[in-house]
Amino acid sequence: MMYIILSDIHSNLQAFEAVVRSFPEGDNPIICAGDIVGYGADPNPCIKQVRALGAVTVLGNHDAAVIDKTDITYFNEYAAEAVLWTRERLNRSGADYLNALPFVHDEKLFTMVHGTLHDPEEFLYMFSGADAMATFDVLKKQICFVGHSHVPCVFILKGGKLYLERSLSKKIRVEEDARYVINVGSVGQPRDGDSRACYCVYDTDNAEIEFRRIEYDVEGARDRIIKAGLPAVLGDRLLYGQ
Ligand SMILES: [Fe+2]
Repeated sequence: MMYIILSDIHSNLQAFEAVVRSFPEGDNPIICAGDIVGYGADPNPCIKQVRALGAVTVLGNHDAAVIDKTDITYFNEYAAEAVLWTRERLNRSGADYLNALPFVHDEKLFTMVHGTLHDPEEFLYMFSGADAMATFDVLKKQICFVGHSHVPCVFILKGGKLYLERSLSKKIRVEEDARYVINVGSVGQPRDGDSRACYCVYDTDNAEIEFRRIEYDVEGARDRIIKAGLPAVLGDRLLYGQ
């Protein structure tokens, strides 16, 4: 089976549509680790597309913020402004959809959460080995897919040792005697210095995970943000993948 796993679309329809066009052929399950909305100019079309794809989705902090399910005082000023902008424009159907999303989702082979598994509702960031270990400590499956930081990486726990893999151009081999916490990167606002949209394909038959980078109309997405009256910095950062 091929799972398509993506995260942090952030209302960037140009990036999302390019990613969808790049999906491998076949009726593959689609999994989304949250933050469909926030930052970008097209919240309702992005939610509509996620639903049309039948993607199984968990709640991200920006999704939670626009439906008033989390505090935005810790958001930076531009993120908070985008949350308020999105709240005014989110349609009823989209709000109902976000309201029904869980914090955690389990598949047979893996778990998915937006931030960390040990405290899903706090939307903590996972940058360090210690952060990853807190998730490994409560993870019951072999793999946990996360989003939130917008920086793709793979934490590997094998033989009691923790490894961090940031070199993702080659496929990651899923070994039976190892466990994995995998940040799938961001579709709509990458922050690893690469402006291309990012997502993962998990091929369970071959026990391989591939990170894919997809070019899209970055300047078009930036223009949409600026024309929508959102902070220009949210458009500019897309150009640099930051
Ligand atoms: Fe995000």
